[in-house]
Amino acid sequence: MIINGKEIAQIIQLELAEKTKDLVAKTGVKPGLALLLVGDNSASQVYVRSKAKACEKVGLHSIIVTLPEHTSEKDVLEVIAAWNKDTTIHGILVQLPLPKHINETNVIMAIHPDKDVDGFHPINVGKLVTGIGGFVPCTPAGIVELLVRSSIKTSGKHVVVVGRSNIVGKPIANLLYQKSTRGNAVVTICHTGADDLRHYTKQADILIAAIGVAHRITADDIKPGAVIIDVGINRVIDESSEKGYSIVGDVDYDSVLPYVSAITPVPGGVGPMTIAMLLSNTFTAAQNYANVYRE
Ligand code: GUN
Repeated sequence: MIINGKEIAQIIQLELAEKTKDLVAKTGVKPGLALLLVGDNSASQVYVRSKAKACEKVGLHSIIVTLPEHTSEKDVLEVIAAWNKDTTIHGILVQLPLPKHINETNVIMAIHPDKDVDGFHPINVGKLVTGIGGFVPCTPAGIVELLVRSSIKTSGKHVVVVGRSNIVGKPIANLLYQKSTRGNAVVTICHTGADDLRHYTKQADILIAAIGVAHRITADDIKPGAVIIDVGINRVIDESSEKGYSIVGDVDYDSVLPYVSAITPVPGGVGPMTIAMLLSNTFTAAQNYANVYRE
């Protein structure tokens, strides 16, 4: 089975469009997402634009603020402080990575946890770890949604996560071992620091590759019949492409395909789900705001 993330993301967006119409009609609150891009990372520019475009499709309000590379941390924090107070903005996203002179933690901590639709604030991380709700980072939330909507059971299975980032590795592991119908897996986290990475990946019923190295996982690294979730988005030189590059995953798709029971392609797998979950989190933030506001 090839898991079609694009199609599943579209279904979620249709569902969200309906729910948004309903929220606006009942409460007058239109969900709003503010996106901040600092610097001129071309991949980040593409991501931010596609996030705003998706908002428009679903009926959410969005704004993009782009600041130059040399912007001070203080100026970034001021933009966030203004959005924290702005009642038309329910979600705030600062695109990462930030320029080196800006402290990422300070920026993440400045976002009000109720507007932290990325789920990166320690308050939301703490809620995830303790299993008491809060905003879940979009890529891991998207992976769980892909598994659920593809009827892939996680309960009792051995999930091996390759990668330990705050954006993907840590949160997806935390989601999948929780005692819940969408979790209940046995989870191993490994990473590029492992002496023998293959020793772990070969044991996975479900392998989640979030390494950031093109084609790192090959047929020799997996157990036959495994489910493969490829989180990688790597630019590789491709002279046959108009842009001069193409996007490939962390998994060598052609090599593993004959041996897997299910796999997410790149592009068209996890990527579109990240955006769908961002919209979903923004909707939830607005709904939470509407509930408080109406009480
Ligand atoms: N950079 C790569 N992935 C993400 C993400 O999910 N959120 C933000 N804010 N930046 C990112």
